[in-house]
Amino acid sequence: MKSPIPDYLKIVLENARAIESGSPASYIETLAKADPSKLAVALATVDGNIYSAGDDRVEFSIQSISKAFVYAIAIEDIGLQGVLEKIGVEPSGDAFNQLSLERGSNRPVNPMINAGAITAHSLVTGATAEERTERILKGLSKLAGRQLHVDEEVYEAELKSADRNMAIGYMLKAAGIISCDPQDVVRGYIRQCAINVTVRDLAIMAATLSNAGVHPKTGERVIPQASVRQVLSVMTTCGMYDAAGDWVSNVGIPAKSGVAGGIIGALPGQVGIATFSPNLDERGNSVRGVAICEKLSRDMGLHMMDVSQIAGATVWTSVATIVAGTHEPHHPNCERDVIIFSLRGAVRFPGSERLSRALVRELGEPDPEDPGSGKYIDACAVVISLRDVYSLSAIAQRMLHENIKRLIADKRSVVIIDPSEVLQMKSADGKPGDALPHIVKTENEARDYIGGAGSSTVLIKDDW
Ligand code: DON
Repeated sequence: MKSPIPDYLKIVLENARAIESGSPASYIETLAKADPSKLAVALATVDGNIYSAGDDRVEFSIQSISKAFVYAIAIEDIGLQGVLEKIGVEPSGDAFNQLSLERGSNRPVNPMINAGAITAHSLVTGATAEERTERILKGLSKLAGRQLHVDEEVYEAELKSADRNMAIGYMLKAAGIISCDPQDVVRGYIRQCAINVTVRDLAIMAATLSNAGVHPKTGERVIPQASVRQVLSVMTTCGMYDAAGDWVSNVGIPAKSGVAGGIIGALPGQVGIATFSPNLDERGNSVRGVAICEKLSRDMGLHMMDVSQIAGATVWTSVATIVAGTHEPHHPNCERDVIIFSLRGAVRFPGSERLSRALVRELGEPDPEDPGSGKYIDACAVVISLRDVYSLSAIAQRMLHENIKRLIADKRSVVIIDPSEVLQMKSADGKPGDALPHIVKTENEARDYIGGAGSSTVLIKDDW
């Protein structure tokens, strides 16, 4: 059997071919000569599977898409605070090569327009301009999972028409934003833009952002998680320049475009996508690329603002009565109720809040205004099942720890079913102690602990 995904991607590409508007970037000779019929798309999952179609092995220069990753490298090298002192995070609504600085702070408004990107390039560690560029080439190669190269022809061609970027470099030097030679920095920035990639490279680079900075293929952390959040934020608000509003409402995926015709989209926790088609619109974004991304987002439900998961579904409550086993027929818990709270999926704040509310409602004092509350105040044990929990966010973990501590402080017997060890609860000194719950791997172990060996349960609700 063949996967339907490559077939679907081929159909998407064929439909996009009908769009004939736009033209390749004209200000760089080599790009102006690009073959406008070239068309490719790739989609990479956060576990490293890549699907692609069309001219997926054709190389083109990364151009402005590099800005997102170089921003991450600058943050790694001098820290977020240092970068924020030099580059703002406000969408400009201007063209990518606008000669502009933020009123008051004199910083470039964001790292996605040229002024901010040239500054970010200058902040990358390197004793010389060559070292800086080498570090960037190495960083991007690591993200792509193969050694990338600078397209010397594209580099030389852009250098010939670099007056505007040189002007930006001198503006930055005059404003005290960069301290090194503006010409060196702009040349390095142009080399960074001339690094060749394919859509498959870009998709896996984007998927690394989607995967919180861990490379989907190697499992290596390539970008710190906090930097990923920063990069995705500016991609969302500024990645598509003056088309950012249209893009966010129609596609809804943090993205970055380049004048060679590439676009990347990185949907947190899901997929990285990349498209290539050289014809650009008046804002410098690939016309067919934008259409393909819109279609993928619509068809595959990739818009980040789609409210597709309602938090309420992550917790459910059931009650079981313990029936003593033959080994311990007079166990003190025999004929008593156990209340079970089961969490499911990737639990974040809303799921942990639901659990907290359910614990209070079922186990607290009855509330006259809430009929049915306090029904299990006398339950002999509280079981929290994390069997179907895929992950617990940091806040969900803290909330759960705090709820468990409070249950134990109320002298309740608390049993946690945690086969995947997601709870990670330790006492203050890291040793087992009274303040910790009893943790087991299976329902049977939980039942034997509560009701004695060989006991069984009669379920009032659910199938525990
Ligand atoms: O700075 C420039 O002119 C180019 N090397 C990069 C610009 C770019 O890719 C703009 N994005 N759409």
